[in-house]
Amino acid sequence: MSNTNKMPIEEGIDHSFSLMREGYMYILNRRKSFNSDVFETRLLGKKAICMGGLEAAEIFYDTEKFKRKDAAPNRAVQTLFGKNGVQGLDGQAHKYRKEMFMSIMSPDGLEKLTSITEKQWEIALDKWKNMNKVILYEEAKEIMCKTACQWAGVPVEENEIKGLTKDLGAMFESAAAVGPAHWLGRNARNRVEQWIGELIDRVRDGKVTPPENTALHKFSWHRDLEGNLLDTETAAVEVINILRPIVAIAIFINFIALAVYHYPEERKKLETREEKYTQMFVQEVRRSYPFFPFVVALVKKDFIWKGYKFEEGTLTLLDVYGTNHDPKIWENPDVFNPDRFSKWEGSPFSFIPQGGGDYFMGHRCAGEWVTIEVMKVSLDFLTNQMEYEIPEQDLSFSMVSMPSIPHSKVELKNVKRRI
Ligand code: HEM
Repeated sequence: MSNTNKMPIEEGIDHSFSLMREGYMYILNRRKSFNSDVFETRLLGKKAICMGGLEAAEIFYDTEKFKRKDAAPNRAVQTLFGKNGVQGLDGQAHKYRKEMFMSIMSPDGLEKLTSITEKQWEIALDKWKNMNKVILYEEAKEIMCKTACQWAGVPVEENEIKGLTKDLGAMFESAAAVGPAHWLGRNARNRVEQWIGELIDRVRDGKVTPPENTALHKFSWHRDLEGNLLDTETAAVEVINILRPIVAIAIFINFIALAVYHYPEERKKLETREEKYTQMFVQEVRRSYPFFPFVVALVKKDFIWKGYKFEEGTLTLLDVYGTNHDPKIWENPDVFNPDRFSKWEGSPFSFIPQGGGDYFMGHRCAGEWVTIEVMKVSLDFLTNQMEYEIPEQDLSFSMVSMPSIPHSKVELKNVKRRI
């Protein structure tokens, strides 16, 4: 460990405030000013390493070098993730739990999800044509909540949907919040965990029988490496790990509407409904717009990379937004251009809106295929199946708030089915 270089350092006592102030651009700004894909800083009173770009992502997803246990800040665990979920597991325990998630992502499972999503969009469209104005973000969350529950086998009454949508939304809307907004998210999580936990108990008592191959069924009966059922709280956290992020796709649905509006020339191409172009458009929305700024891990044991020493236990942030806008990977990264995906080399480390690496061996998002399929259906509705006006409103979005949602939440008027 002798011949090491000194990592570029952001001098000062603590830079958490700069991170909050610069948001999605915090790491990328410093990668540019240090002219380095890795630098040292101090966050939440501790030394931290920030890195981004293709090679950095490759190292970050090396499970020999980084671990997830205790990496996420408690604030995010209490709202976004929940305790003892797959996000904080490592090694065999993680692989085994992740297989449980991936077992519901079969082609058949995804086909069912597509058809449920289509049906829920149809129902919403019938409702919207009688409404004076539609706030797309709020409505899309409700569409996605119903879709998520039906797909996951979670029985829910129509009159419970609004409350559940609000609670699942609060979990990701409050992930970076402090004060009352944080408590809103925390209380929402406690409520939903309690409700899903009771449901899992009823499944195990034979009083509720969800369809096989649904998340509720599979997760209720999943056994860990020792052959035990998951404790009720953990099983509930994992069912919520399906419901909550499906509702969060509403954010991408908002960005789809924004992209279609801002780039009218794209509409013509989308009207052909060519599968390949639809996919490229969705990929470009996921690459372009801000969602997750970074992901975090801890150095598992000392190692040297590019001559820099990484010390065991150091908090490390991988720049998700900045890697998706890295000029070394993407030509004119700030230009919206779905066609770029016809030439994309397909590396699991260059395009990482939902994490990188491998689904089974690593922490890459279990719901990436779900997200893409739901976005494709939503894009088709927003371009080919409905007509609407976008009245004057504030469609700008923050590069600091996490998650970032267009300020007006995208208001639609005169919504009609396209004949
Ligand atoms: C709404 C858009 C979504 C975004 C932007 C997103 C993003 C992410 C990111 C950045 C990670 C962390 C990757 C890492 O730690 O390295 C992740 C993990 C995860 N996501 Fe998603 N996700 C989305 C949708 C979904 C959906 C729809 C589901 C489930 C149906 C889902 C389930 C999960 C799970 C279970 C993990 C933990 C995986 C693990 O730790 O092994 N996500 N997601």
